[in-house]
Order: sequence, then C-alpha cells, then structure tokens
Amino acid sequence: MCGIIGIIGKAPVTPLLLDALKRLEYRGYDSAGVATLVNGHIDRRRAEGKLVNLEARLKAEPLPGTIGIGHTRWATHGKPSERNAHPIATDRVAIVHNGIIENFQELKDGLVAEGRRFDSDTDTEVVAQLLTSYLESQMSPEEAMGKAMARLRGAFALVALFSGRHDILMGARRGSSLAVGYGDGEMYIGTDALALAPFTSRVSYLEDDDWAVLKADGATVYQGTQKVKRPIKKSGLSSALIGKGNHQHFMLKEIHEQPTVIGDTLQSYLDPATRSVSLPALPFDWNKVSRVTITGCGTACYAGMIAKYWFEKLARLAVEVDVASEMRYREPPLPDGGVCIAVSQSGETVDTLEALRYAQSQKQTLLSVVNVPESAIARLSDVVLPTLAGPEIGVASTKAFTTQLVVLLAAAIAAGRARGTLSRDEEERLVLAMIELPARVNETLNMEEDYRRIAENTLAAARDVLYLGRGSSFPVALEGALKLKELSYIHAEGYAGGEMKHGPIALIDDEVPVVVVAPTDPIFDKIASNFEQVRARGGRLVLLSDKAGVARLGAKAETSIMMPDVDPIVAPILYTVAVQLLAYYTALAKGTDIDQPRNLAKSVTVE
Ligand code: M6R
Repeated sequence: MCGIIGIIGKAPVTPLLLDALKRLEYRGYDSAGVATLVNGHIDRRRAEGKLVNLEARLKAEPLPGTIGIGHTRWATHGKPSERNAHPIATDRVAIVHNGIIENFQELKDGLVAEGRRFDSDTDTEVVAQLLTSYLESQMSPEEAMGKAMARLRGAFALVALFSGRHDILMGARRGSSLAVGYGDGEMYIGTDALALAPFTSRVSYLEDDDWAVLKADGATVYQGTQKVKRPIKKSGLSSALIGKGNHQHFMLKEIHEQPTVIGDTLQSYLDPATRSVSLPALPFDWNKVSRVTITGCGTACYAGMIAKYWFEKLARLAVEVDVASEMRYREPPLPDGGVCIAVSQSGETVDTLEALRYAQSQKQTLLSVVNVPESAIARLSDVVLPTLAGPEIGVASTKAFTTQLVVLLAAAIAAGRARGTLSRDEEERLVLAMIELPARVNETLNMEEDYRRIAENTLAAARDVLYLGRGSSFPVALEGALKLKELSYIHAEGYAGGEMKHGPIALIDDEVPVVVVAPTDPIFDKIASNFEQVRARGGRLVLLSDKAGVARLGAKAETSIMMPDVDPIVAPILYTVAVQLLAYYTALAKGTDIDQPRNLAKSVTVE
C-alpha cells in the first residue's frame, strides 16, 4: 500500500531516501515525504501528489541530515494532502506507516483527553502522539515502542525517528512487511528488499509483532520484551532487475519479460528430459483431496478461475474459486481434507491473507502461489509454489499472472497424474505444449504493431468495450477487461460468450468494440455463434484467434489478430499476452499514466 524507507547513514541521506522512494512509488503515489534530524530536531518536507512534487520541494528547500525516514502514500485515513502526508511528526518523534491502526479512534480519544492536539486526519498520528506521551513521561524510545506495540491493533509496519537521537531508528511490524538492510557502518529499513536493493544485499525480515532498534552497526530485534534473532539473508535483487531498461514503461518491460520468466518458472516445475511435471513435495495426497478452494483478488483471482477449468478437466477435482474479500466474511463451510490455494503476486494482499487464515481455521491444507517468498501469505502456507516472475513494478499485473498460470497448470497436471485421470502420454503432450510457450509468447510480442494499430483505430476512442470468451477463455476475457479499465479508464466488461443473450447483448451497437478471445478449442463453435450474434447487431468485432479461427471468422470481423497455434490447454496463457498488449497500447494512445494508474496501488494491504 504505502512505501517506507529509513536510513542511518554516514553522509546526507535525503538523496538516498528519494532514490528508495522512487523504487517504492509503485506502492502508492498520492503524496510523499521525508524527515531527517537537523541539529537534533526533526525537519520534514512533504508534498501532495507524485514524487516529482517532493523532489521539486527538496530542490527549493534542501534537507540536510545523516539519519532520516521517507514515505510514499496511498491514502486510507485522511485525504491525500500535504497535511496528511507522512512522516507524521510531533516535536519528539516522526513516523512513517503502512497499513491501518484499527483502534486509532479509541487511542485518539484517550490522547485528546490528555490534552494532545492532532494536526492530521491520519490514524498514523495516534502512534506519534502515543510515543510522544510515553517519551514525555521519561521513557526511553525502546520502552516507549515496546509499550506502544502492546496497545496498537491492526495490520501495519512503521518506522520512527526520534528527536535528539542521531544514533537510532526504530521499526515495528504486524501484518505488513518490513526488511532490515545491513551496510558498512550504515543501516537501512524498508518495506521490502526492493527498496534496499542498491544499498545492500544483506537483508533480514522482521516477523509479525517484531520491533527493532537500528544503530549504525546493526539491529536488535524484540518480540515484546524478549530479544529475538532474525537471520540475515543474501537478497538476489540487483538494480538492473528493477530498472525500466530501454522500455518506455515498466509494464511494457514486464510484458516483454514473459518469455524469459515463463521459461524460468517452467524450469522449476517441469522435467524436459522425462517430459513430466515435477512439483516439490506436497504435505497432502491429491487422491485424498476432497475439494480445492482457490482464492485471490483481481487478476490473481482470474488465474484461479482458469485453474478451475484445468483441475476439473485434468484431475477431475471439485474446485471452488472464491474472491478473497467475499470468502473471508462469507465463511463458507470447507470440507475436511480440502486444500485451499491462495494466489497472489505480492503475497501481502490483506483480503487474500485473511481468506487463507479462514481456510486454516477450517483445517484446510494451505498452498500458496506467490511471487514474494518472504511474504505473509507464503509464511502462513503449509507449502509454497513460487512464481519466478522477478519484481513486478507496473501496477497492472502481467508477468506475475502468466507465471501463476504456469504454476497452476503444472499443479493440475500433477494432480491428474496422481489421481489417475491423466495418462502418461497426455502428460507428455501437455508438458511439450508448455515447453513451447516461451517461443509462442515471443511470436505474439513480435506482432506488437498489430496491437498498437487495433488499440489506436478501434479501442482508444470507445466509451465501452466488451470482451467475450468461453471455457478457459472466459477468465481471459475478464482479465482483458480489467486490464483495459485499470490502464485506459475505458469502461470494459468481460462475459462468458453464452451469457450475452441473457442481457449484455442489449449494449451492442456500432460504437461498441467487442473483443472475442477465440482459440480453436473444443467449444470454438459456441464462441463462433456468439460472434455471429454480435455481428448481426452491428457490433465492432475484434477477433483474437489462430489460423483456423481467423480463416473461419476473420473476414467478418472489423479487425483480427492471428495468434500462434497452440494446444488449447495453454491458450489462456498466450491469449493473456494479447489482451495485455491491447490494454497497454490503448492506454498509450490515450496518454494515461500506465505504470501508476489513478486511484490504484500495487499491493493492497488494507481493506
Ligand atoms: O498482489 P496480489 O496478486 O495479491 O494482488 C491482487 C490484485 O490486487 C491485483 O492482481 C490487481 O487486480 C492488479 N492491479 C491487476 O492488474
């Protein structure tokens, strides 16, 4: 949600704080700020809007100091404004915070009754005021933080800078991630290893309820009053991995990385020599699984919807897909012997985490498909199947989604083999189809100009766009519509083709582009009928199909793209790349903010 950084340095830290905030801006971009100690006093610069505004502010009013904290915000409590931008400070302490303090009102009432005056509308300020109240009663920063942690409720990560204390920064986490970086006589603390990457590769991760005291030569971590040890690990992230390279946007770079990261993920889950799937050891037997429940949010949930088709077809397993934000409150009965699969790029989406916690309470085995192995969802799970997508910075999920699909397909094939519903020959055929995927995705990327043309000529001026698909192409239609709306702000909806006649067909006229996702699979004839129904009503058809499909329907469409021929089972992965390109080039034509679309943030750690 928000991005946090703190540095105890040897030289002025403001440029380093800004540098880290640039890497964290994908997490929130409605305001930003930094605070340092200048002659022992807290000094701040904050600005509403994107980081460039803060940069301009700092140019006009530089901020010296060798210890400091920084923040980039996605507003929850209090509208985006300079007044509510972090660091939130009193004269004793400055705080940067990610997440929500659930009992802030109760704490605020008590603090106001003590005579404390609040200057912002944020929940964060209760932490600053609470610490100040403890510090004023002669507690040390360590005592104050230990005591405050016991009173705060909610899911949060925070870092504190204390006036008069050039020697310490303190951090605390419950539910939201926080990593400590070890330098040479310098220390760092930030939301994740990505924020710290250029500074140091030696990183340790705080656990829930940890609070840490950082000094220039190391960190001491506590749980309550007990000291605890958190291992220092080598982070594999390099600055090269987190730059845009030669691409205009992170999203385009990440779309283009798909052949590589799909290949990397395939290598982890397939054995090309034996043409078989090889998953890590699982703590359950597929034969004894009563039901699979897949949960996630947004794009990750659509990955689950596609996987449902695969598990049902290949392993004859009963699968429910539940939007995490609904599942956690609906509290569905989950049968004994069930497996719950959580799908998440960030691994910190709070709705997905809570849905998984609910599944745990129902005695389900927890399996997660995540891109961040240190994340809260990964830690909660009994087993993790990582996607090897690398850092995904563009707010729109692209390579994380296609690698989630690769992992879920491998799992469905493994389940089918174990349950005897998939023959060895079939497995070999499917594995070969998967191995070909990076090459087919590459061919799709080579046709980028065709997507640009359709985006510019057919989609960019539309007010509404529909996406249709059937079978496992239906969730691809949903994903195409989501991508288009989040990037270009054009209203778009995805429908199962067969549902058109039950309502949405009323929307069709000669101004509505309809993107039809139609690989020639066993139900191609059905989507072909839906295509004709749209055509009969004058809809503007954009056809995505292979050679046979374009031969049959291409002449009747306003425009079409001939996709590479692939086995229908892997078609959702390939056709996803096509809808990504359509959304990207439509947004480019409209001139919207592609990597940081309005109102969105990369990972949603609050409700
Ligand atoms: O990090 P997660 O995969 O859990 O995030 C889930 C959704 O918030 C995410 O997929 C969202 O829908 C993206 N903006 C889609 O592009």
